[in-house]
Amino acid sequence: MIKLEGVTKQYGNLKAVDNLDLQISAGVFFGLLGPNGAGKTTLIRMLIGLAKPSSGKVYIGNMEVERNNNKQKSMIGIVPQHTNLDKELTVRENLIFCGKLHRIPPEERKKRIDKLLDFIDLKEGEHRLSQKLSGGMQRKLMIAKALINDPEILFLDEPTVGIDLNARRNIWDILKAMKDRGKTIIMTTHYIEEAEYLCDRVALMNEGKIFFCDTPENLRKQLGNYTLEYFNQDKKTEYLYYKAIEEAKDFAAGLDTDFTIRETTLEDVFYNFTNRKVM
Ligand SMILES: Nc1ncnc2c1ncn2[C@@H]1O[C@H](COP(=O)(O)OP(=O)(O)O)[C@@H](O)[C@H]1O
Ligand SMILES: [Mg+2]
Repeated sequence: MIKLEGVTKQYGNLKAVDNLDLQISAGVFFGLLGPNGAGKTTLIRMLIGLAKPSSGKVYIGNMEVERNNNKQKSMIGIVPQHTNLDKELTVRENLIFCGKLHRIPPEERKKRIDKLLDFIDLKEGEHRLSQKLSGGMQRKLMIAKALINDPEILFLDEPTVGIDLNARRNIWDILKAMKDRGKTIIMTTHYIEEAEYLCDRVALMNEGKIFFCDTPENLRKQLGNYTLEYFNQDKKTEYLYYKAIEEAKDFAAGLDTDFTIRETTLEDVFYNFTNRKVM
């Protein structure tokens, strides 16, 4: 469904995205996980045709991505990192405006908007100005906007940054429902638990490169399913990874400091390969 071949995006001396090859199949919930500055937004912008690669090729469907290709535009929905709501308009008006941009005829438009308002649970607030909505509601409205053209592929750039825990869970449910409907979803995040909970495949990204790409389970397995954390003699936390919990316990038995044994997370995987925490 999506393919990148040797894609680089260079800003001056900086390679924001560095010679990436990547393939994402239809129906997959794909996560790009990495710290701020990793190149996630730049990659998304090239996928949706808003930025041109310095070199390499990007394909959606079997077509090379172009900025103003209407066929491609009709295939994708975008939830950008920063708000794209018209603050002076109500919830419903935002959706009407967006439907008009997609040239959806009035009757069909109304049908879709009613459905979407139900789906994101904003029916009651439909006449509120979007600037009066909570952060979580604004995000949901942005998702509804992205869905107005019933796209096959949904791009979400850090969809739950800066919103409270309940709203985040609520958005997770919405995204899971989208996946169940067979949509291909590409989401960036720097929240480990978000990638772990939602994604079929996760690409770990740092400094413009993807250094691992697999299912969350395989990523953890590769490192070792169990993590032993202890304070070493220099009062620094040491991390060791084990396939079996017994091996971890055996090692810990010889320690004379405090330790914990726990299941390995994607954060451990990331930390181990970059020595840099995602958050
Ligand atoms: N338009 C731009 N001009 C110059 N540098 C940019 C531009 N966009 C992004 N960058 C740089 O590219 C790197 C990756 O940025 P970005 O893709 O926004 O990362 P992320 O979304 O993972 O936080 C950063 O170092 C950022 O400062
Ligand atoms: Mg970003």
